[in-house]
Amino acid sequence: MSPTAQTRPRPARRALSEAPFLAAARGERPARPPVWFMRQAGRSLPEYRALRQGVEMLDACFDPEMLTEITLQPVRRHGVDAAILFSDIVVPLKAAGLDIDIVPGTGPVVAEPIRDAAGLRALPVLEPDQVSKVADGVRLLVDSLGETPLIGFAGAPFTLASYLIEGGPSRNHEHTKALMHSEPELWHELAGRLADLALTFLKAQLDAGVDAVQLFDSWAGALSERDYREFVLPHSAKVLAGVADYGVPRIHFGVGTGELLVAMRDAGADVVGVDWRIPLDEAVRRLSTPGAKPAVVQGNLDPALLYAGWPVLEAEVRRILAEGRAAAGHIFNLGHGVLPGVDPDVLTRVVRLVHELGS
Ligand code: CP3
Repeated sequence: MSPTAQTRPRPARRALSEAPFLAAARGERPARPPVWFMRQAGRSLPEYRALRQGVEMLDACFDPEMLTEITLQPVRRHGVDAAILFSDIVVPLKAAGLDIDIVPGTGPVVAEPIRDAAGLRALPVLEPDQVSKVADGVRLLVDSLGETPLIGFAGAPFTLASYLIEGGPSRNHEHTKALMHSEPELWHELAGRLADLALTFLKAQLDAGVDAVQLFDSWAGALSERDYREFVLPHSAKVLAGVADYGVPRIHFGVGTGELLVAMRDAGADVVGVDWRIPLDEAVRRLSTPGAKPAVVQGNLDPALLYAGWPVLEAEVRRILAEGRAAAGHIFNLGHGVLPGVDPDVLTRVVRLVHELGS
């Protein structure tokens, strides 16, 4: 969202610039601090579980009416300040024709892991019309959301590559790191193609009307800063630069990325997502240049603490809001996604508390 960026013509949209989420993303301090939760839609909500009965996760992601309803559920129930499109980081891969599925309780699983040049050749290219159902859902959402901004998203090249190379979720990312170091040309070609795929997916959402985007590099925290800068940053930067001229906030998030915050900002983010392992004021200190406006951050309640009981939770929310005052703008969120077993009433109560404490 550089101030000089030429804003692209986008679908007619209700006047949203005063929305607390967008104001905070610009580095302002709205009277009501904005709050939303990663994975706010999904299994923590009984209305989601009811709607998903007998429907595969990825089928739901290509059904415009269903993805719209699922996206709206947490907005209605919790009164959060932003909606996040119900989709998944593997949706553009599936749309392009790759044999990939989401296995309940496990995550994305790929039929043929990509570990060599032949595997890379078999990776399909995403055409915008292959995600037209997602774009249809975005248009329905923009019409129903009123004053609430809609966040679009994509998986970053490293996190997508890890699923493709490992074949599924991985604790150590060993095949990914081995390929990166032993076949750097192959790695850069794969990551470059995943950057193109993420960019096509984000542009489809932006052209249909999303008000902000988040690049999820969930597993980037597994890398050293040196490796991140050499092998990952140029590809994530291509994605973030590729959407700069839409003039919407770009949030860049990863888990366990305390040591990578500056590098992730350098990749081109307007807002840096922070997990719970580092206090927000320390994150802001790392991200800010003396004399310049401080950074804008999003985070960082430990999702496990939603189980800890209200006195603990209330103290944590107060601490995080206080530490967030070091930032130019602070968007309250968890440090990672809502866990499926959490009591949704606790989330509603957190939203109310954040709003009360700010006013
Ligand atoms: O509310 C929101 O935040 C929007 C929805 C959203 C989903 N996936 C829905 C989903 C978002 C933003 C994602 C992104 C995503 N998907 C990431 C990056 C964010 C993160 O959590 O780090 C990653 C790594 C994935 C890959 C993935 N997809 C995993 C690890 C899983 C969980 C598997 C399981 O069953 O535990 C999925 C499936 C998934 N994506 C679900 C949801 C609601 C659960 C599937 C279900 O409800 O049946």
